Amino acid sequence: MSSPGSTSSTERYVVRSVRAEEWPAAKALRLVALQDPVAHLAFLETYDDAMARPDSFWQERTAGASVGSGDARQFIVEGPDGEWVGSVTVLVEEAGTTDWAGFPVERRQGHVVGVYVRPEHRGCGLTELLFDEALQWAWDIDVEQVRLIVHEDNGRALRFYRRIGFLPSGVSVPLTAGSAESELEYVLERP
Ligand SMILES: CC(C)(COP(=O)(O)OP(=O)(O)OC[C@H]1O[C@@H](n2cnc3c(N)ncnc32)[C@H](O)[C@@H]1OP(=O)(O)O)[C@@H](O)C(=O)NCCC(=O)NCCS
Repeated sequence: MSSPGSTSSTERYVVRSVRAEEWPAAKALRLVALQDPVAHLAFLETYDDAMARPDSFWQERTAGASVGSGDARQFIVEGPDGEWVGSVTVLVEEAGTTDWAGFPVERRQGHVVGVYVRPEHRGCGLTELLFDEALQWAWDIDVEQVRLIVHEDNGRALRFYRRIGFLPSGVSVPLTAGSAESELEYVLERP
């Protein structure tokens, strides 16, 4: 962690939920994330896919994960000048439903998606603050566990998830329906 007052001190950053009207900022940060060198490992969507989406898509997605929604919540890190430097979204998956890959959901759980922190703000503890807030929200709404899906070649993300306690469940998930390439499920049990 850097010293107090330095430009990367985490004390000058705020982690908070998004508000529905903030969809332009949510869109802008997502478009930055999709241009990351590891975007092809980190996200299922491409930059071109995202650019082609109408405003209504961003409005609905942000509203559905904003304060007041019980199905999902997007958290962002806001810098001293109000800039968004990172984001994570927790989706709530209900027991008895089927997930996007066609697998049954056996326990009520959180599913962390859209994990991104701008490169200049990585490695200083901000990502942990972001996860602290997102995971606390998940525990507060009584999910039994939180999971995420990570590509085995995304070394930095894997190392971060392991450091904060996520463990491999042993489940591999096809990258897309019918794909031969798969990703790994990591799970964090309720403390
Ligand atoms: C994934 C991400 C949010 C992690 O946040 P971060 O601030 O970079 O994480 P940290 O620096 O705290 O931790 C990463 C760890 O990996 C290590 N690391 C750095 N580069 C690495 C690399 N190329 N390969 C493997 N490990 C690496 C770091 O030293 C650190 O190790 P430590 O736990 O021993 O300290 C961020 O890197 C990011 O936004 N990446 C691009 C998007 C992405 O991959 N999202 C995840 C999709 S599943």
